[in-house]
Amino acid sequence: MPLLVAGEGSGSLAQKIAKLTSWPVSNVEFKTFPDGEDYVRILAPLKDQDVVVVQTAFPPSRLWKLLLLLNAAEENRASSIRCVVPYFAYARQDRMFLEGEPVSARLAADCIRRYARNCVTVDLHKDAVAEYFGGACQNLSAAEPFARELKSRGVDLVLAPDAGALARAREVARRIGVPHDHLEKKRISSEVVEMAHKNVEVKGRKVAVLDDIIGTGGTMARATDHIFRQGASAVVCAGVHGLFIGDVVGRLKNAGASEVFVSDTVDSPYSRVSVSELLANALVAPVRTSLQR
Ligand code: R5P
Repeated sequence: MPLLVAGEGSGSLAQKIAKLTSWPVSNVEFKTFPDGEDYVRILAPLKDQDVVVVQTAFPPSRLWKLLLLLNAAEENRASSIRCVVPYFAYARQDRMFLEGEPVSARLAADCIRRYARNCVTVDLHKDAVAEYFGGACQNLSAAEPFARELKSRGVDLVLAPDAGALARAREVARRIGVPHDHLEKKRISSEVVEMAHKNVEVKGRKVAVLDDIIGTGGTMARATDHIFRQGASAVVCAGVHGLFIGDVVGRLKNAGASEVFVSDTVDSPYSRVSVSELLANALVAPVRTSLQR
């Protein structure tokens, strides 16, 4: 039976996966030395184990903790190593935009691949990142659990804050059975985003704004403000990955949001949608397949 390893900040997600799969979970001892170096120790025997490390990569320093955990599994002679990285950091830098830059997403994938035979993740910021795993990455969509949650709130329009997020909004809207559209976002700086006008009929509607990441909340706040000015009756802000940099919820409430929620890819008090079922199904599938052989 596979052993789940509960990474830092991913303990509750690992427990939810454990409940669905009936697999055991190992806790991990985490320490930081005075010089800032990380120490990890998986508190379960690993020899000949099929190990699944569950470690989110936010804050991005957790990417390093993930590698330490994968290395611990290998050094302790696990028979098989897989990982779940519910939020995959560095996915924005999926290519070299300017001369002299690294391709950070490929570096992260290369390091993970060095140890893990498979990586399961959710709503990668750029789908292309999965290709850096050479077929060994499952990029799961959280559309279904978000559709369920938004439907229960009576949302009657799903908006993407920009064209890049349109496919997700379309997919969620299709599942709920409501229309979708997108706004046009203009990024002025890393903290300032302007929402350009687009003729979206929002008047009198309960609108959900759905994005992959809620970081500083700038994108969502602009979208919320814009939608209200166009006459929406209510705005629900939803993001797959809630990074919540600064007082994001206050910022969104000030902009008029009636509710803010995210998934548990990064655990927070606003993690109202769980991706555990998606992850459990993806992890169990190869076991089922090999049992059927
Ligand atoms: C950008 O392309 C992403 O999809 C999100 O819109 C962005 O990361 C959100 O960041 P923030 O909350 O800081 O505006």
